[in-house]
Amino acid sequence: MQNAYTAKAYSAASETSPLAADTIPRRNPTDRDVQIEILFCGICHSDLHQVRDEWRDAMPTVYPCVPGHEIVGRVTKVGSAVTKYKPGDLVAVGCLVDSDQTCPNCREGLEQFCPNFTLTYNSPDKHLGGVTYGGYSDSIVVDERFVLRVPANLDLAGSAPLLCAGITTYSPMRHWGVTKGQKVGVVGLGGLGHMGVKFAHALGAHVVVFTTSPGKTEDALRLGADEVVVSRDADEMMTHAASFDFILDTVSANHDINAYLSLLRRDGNLTLVGAPEKPLAVSAFSLIMGRRTLSGSPIGGIAETQEMLDFCGKHDITADVEVIPIQKVNEAYERLLKSDVKYRFSIDMASLKSA
Ligand SMILES: NC(=O)c1ccc[n+]([C@@H]2O[C@H](COP(=O)([O-])OP(=O)(O)OC[C@H]3O[C@@H](n4cnc5c(N)ncnc54)[C@H](OP(=O)(O)O)[C@@H]3O)[C@@H](O)[C@H]2O)c1
Ligand SMILES: [Zn+2]
Ligand SMILES: [Zn+2]
Repeated sequence: MQNAYTAKAYSAASETSPLAADTIPRRNPTDRDVQIEILFCGICHSDLHQVRDEWRDAMPTVYPCVPGHEIVGRVTKVGSAVTKYKPGDLVAVGCLVDSDQTCPNCREGLEQFCPNFTLTYNSPDKHLGGVTYGGYSDSIVVDERFVLRVPANLDLAGSAPLLCAGITTYSPMRHWGVTKGQKVGVVGLGGLGHMGVKFAHALGAHVVVFTTSPGKTEDALRLGADEVVVSRDADEMMTHAASFDFILDTVSANHDINAYLSLLRRDGNLTLVGAPEKPLAVSAFSLIMGRRTLSGSPIGGIAETQEMLDFCGKHDITADVEVIPIQKVNEAYERLLKSDVKYRFSIDMASLKSA
């Protein structure tokens, strides 16, 4: 392809294949594009869901699939019309790389709801055809409007997960008005959950973590929780009945959501950000009693993502990461399934040079 160059990447060839070294085309930067050398990319549980085609009903995976939407890197080249960035800048890219810019959602800066958005991977690629390829790669080319700035005081490996785990937990807390003095629950202490704890704590809430892993209790307290409940203990759960203003559910697998709905106070809200493969069963009475609401929330818009990054810069917030070489990615996926990650894998993309 004349308008493209070859980049190194890790891709999955099918829903049952492990990720393996590959090469992919990337477009040469157009006028408005920024070319980025990827330094770190976080591993989101959504990468695993999509590599294994677990979301086939909502968004089937097209193979080969190059996942990764928690990207930080350095600008290597910019198009002639780019004004915000220059070579050498430290930048970030999250889950979105384009949108139509004209629909009511885009006009409000809520590109995550644009009917014509382009996701960082597994979306139709308007430039090269086929689908977009994500951040498990040595470089990426992105329209400058979807490129974000990383505050200079933040560690880069720990900043990558802010681009999905960070914004996905920050956005619903802002939307539902989490504030000082409220009682906030976070269900599941993984990548998203541990960011949720940090944000709820920074916003001044009383934070209660619900975990299935008793061994995470001390970490939860260190991360900013005021209380930790091992959710398999029904009696302990009941001591919190009808008391929460807001609960953020980050669980990636099937679980009993009614047990959490019943912990909301009157008019309280539970927001689902976890996206399990199979539908969850909701008892009507869990909602009717107490006029509670159940909602969901996807990532966040570009302006809010920058706001979140700046909030992290101000409060010195990054993810707790285990940095791994790309060669360990398949092992990392197996550990994710066992809830064995403290609390996000961040791939050091320098390792791809030798792949
Ligand atoms: N809405 C969005 O825009 C958005 C964005 C990113 C990710 N997601 C989704 O959010 C979910 C979480 O992602 P993540 O990257 O944070 O995953 P993760 O790091 O694997 O964390 C998930 C946590 O859920 C808990 N968990 C796992 N299996 C469970 C089970 N069977 N029963 C109860 N709890 C269980 C575990 O916490 P404990 O050990 O503490 O119990 C685990 O650490 C995924 O489904 C992902 O696709 C959604
Ligand atoms: Zn994600
Ligand atoms: Zn739009």
